Amino acid sequence: MPRIFSGIQPSGDLHIGNWLGAVQNWVALQERHECFFAIVDLHAITGQHDAATLERRTLDMAIGLLASGIDPARCTFFVQSHVPEHAELMWLLTSVTPLGELERMTQFKDKSQRTESIPAGLLAYPILMAADILLYRADQVPVGDDQLQHLELARVIARRWNAEFGGGVDFFPEPQSLLTAARRIVGLDGQAKMSKSLGNTVGILESPEEIWQKIRPAVTDPARVTKKDPGTPEVCNVYALHRHFSPPDTVSDVARKCRAAEWGCIDCKRVLAENMAAVLAPIRERAEALRADEGGVRAILADGANRARVEARRTLAEVKARMGFLPSEGPPGR
Ligand code: TRP
Repeated sequence: MPRIFSGIQPSGDLHIGNWLGAVQNWVALQERHECFFAIVDLHAITGQHDAATLERRTLDMAIGLLASGIDPARCTFFVQSHVPEHAELMWLLTSVTPLGELERMTQFKDKSQRTESIPAGLLAYPILMAADILLYRADQVPVGDDQLQHLELARVIARRWNAEFGGGVDFFPEPQSLLTAARRIVGLDGQAKMSKSLGNTVGILESPEEIWQKIRPAVTDPARVTKKDPGTPEVCNVYALHRHFSPPDTVSDVARKCRAAEWGCIDCKRVLAENMAAVLAPIRERAEALRADEGGVRAILADGANRARVEARRTLAEVKARMGFLPSEGPPGR
């Protein structure tokens, strides 16, 4: 069974872009693969680190993922910082990571341009990501296209480490990307990729009323100035969302009415908001139940971290041995 690793930052609430682009894919993958899914809180401190909200955002992310169908009985689901081997392996990998490659990462270039004092963690971010994947010797990594360059670097790191310390075997598999279902969901502004920092999202746990308030002002086909102008569904982001949330009959009906100028955008949006609320209702219900039992959520994460650590310790012990460290005679496993 191929092994999969993926991570998501604890940005707080999941939005429909994360849900359609990544989370649904994770939920499907856990059925037929051995999956490790982590909330990558160590990565989150490379941006603006808000210590006051990190714990809350991490728990909320866990609740959102569990409510979406991430099943701790079918995958290993945990918080990255609960498995200290991630940080430890990262350090070991710094010795086979070329600085030039780190400086060439587009995400680093973008983010470092926007800040005056660049933390070293921003540069080292992709090494930590490589450590996440290699710690479990994962074969496949579902990611969005914005992470492909980081994944390519993880392969470079795996290759270099294998060449230097593998002793003739490829100890680390070169992780492959799984792009298939990572669709690019455009935000409600109809312009940029849906992203929390751009404020163009709908949260998966929002109420029907909140969903309507978000959908109502969403940008549609700019050629439809009035109700009487025929529209082109293919260029309309509201139509794109219908395809994700409305039944097929409704989708074709929506397209026909738009082309024939039979109804206005606001009518079309009302139907979308209703269908979106209906699709998300069971997730919201499960999230409410999980929120009422936060101790249960913490216990799920603790159990996931324990299971992840078994694998993480095994890899790290092997890595340290191959790198020539004096074995520790301390308590087992460390
Ligand atoms: N960098 C990824 C992102 O921002 C998150 C991430 C961290 C990740 N570690 C990972 C994704 C390992 C896949 C595998 O989306």
